[in-house]
Amino acid sequence: MFIASLYNLKGGVGKTASCVNFAYMAAKDGYKVLLWDLDPQGAASYYYNVQPGVKWSIKKIIGNELSLEEAIMNTSYENIDIIPADISARKLDMLLEENNGSKKYLKHLLKKLEHYDFVFIDCSPGFSLLADNVFYASDAVLMPVIPTTLSVRTYEIVKSYFEEKGMLDKMMCFFTMVDVRKNMHNDVMQELFKDKRFFEYYIPNLSDIEKMGIHHAPVESFAPNSYATTCYRALWREIKEGVLE
Ligand SMILES: Nc1ncnc2c1ncn2[C@@H]1O[C@H](COP(=O)(O)OP(=O)(O)O)[C@@H](O)[C@H]1O
Ligand SMILES: [Mg+2]
Repeated sequence: MFIASLYNLKGGVGKTASCVNFAYMAAKDGYKVLLWDLDPQGAASYYYNVQPGVKWSIKKIIGNELSLEEAIMNTSYENIDIIPADISARKLDMLLEENNGSKKYLKHLLKKLEHYDFVFIDCSPGFSLLADNVFYASDAVLMPVIPTTLSVRTYEIVKSYFEEKGMLDKMMCFFTMVDVRKNMHNDVMQELFKDKRFFEYYIPNLSDIEKMGIHHAPVESFAPNSYATTCYRALWREIKEGVLE
């Protein structure tokens, strides 16, 4: 089992879009995939048209009233299951705090799901006890970065945090919503590529990716021959080869 989380301190950078597309592509490659939507906004669950069952909540999972396996739901796609977000996820940090403030609880829960090849976790932004749990559980923390000067600052903050925790090896970044016509985007990419923490392939700003919200689906499923699919495919291949080598 390989656990990859989509994380950034910032919101609106393409975490969910990337999580949904990578999960879909890994499943199409034949891997058994689980997507865990840990953002209470539930956007990844929305893209996969899945809502949590009435009887369960993340609160019950943390409180040991429900097992993680019981929270898993099917999607309409082969090889992808999902743990959808429910509204109690907004209190997850507090629930973890009450649970001895452990940073290892998520990792402990995920141990029971060894039969999956890939687990993708869609995170909410920010530093928190939940984020620490995700970092600890993840084999790779995939961070989408929009190449603007403000993002460079965020990138440096996250990098320092991972360095401090001795987890810098897990931090792997890629550029999203790139507009190559913008000098700033080109300059920032050139600068950050020097850091060797970024994948070479990147995701441009493309309307087909925005249309995922209209189709409630990963981009490859409704636009298999689009440039957006080509870009996500190339990046996913690079990530897969990078993490599984
Ligand atoms: N490569 C892209 N090109 C164009 N729009 C994108 C791209 N990636 C994401 N978006 C759009 O940007 C918004 C934020 O993306 P999202 O994946 O939800 O970010 P996050 O999960 O980091 O908050 C959404 O409306 C999404 O449709
Ligand atoms: Mg999101």
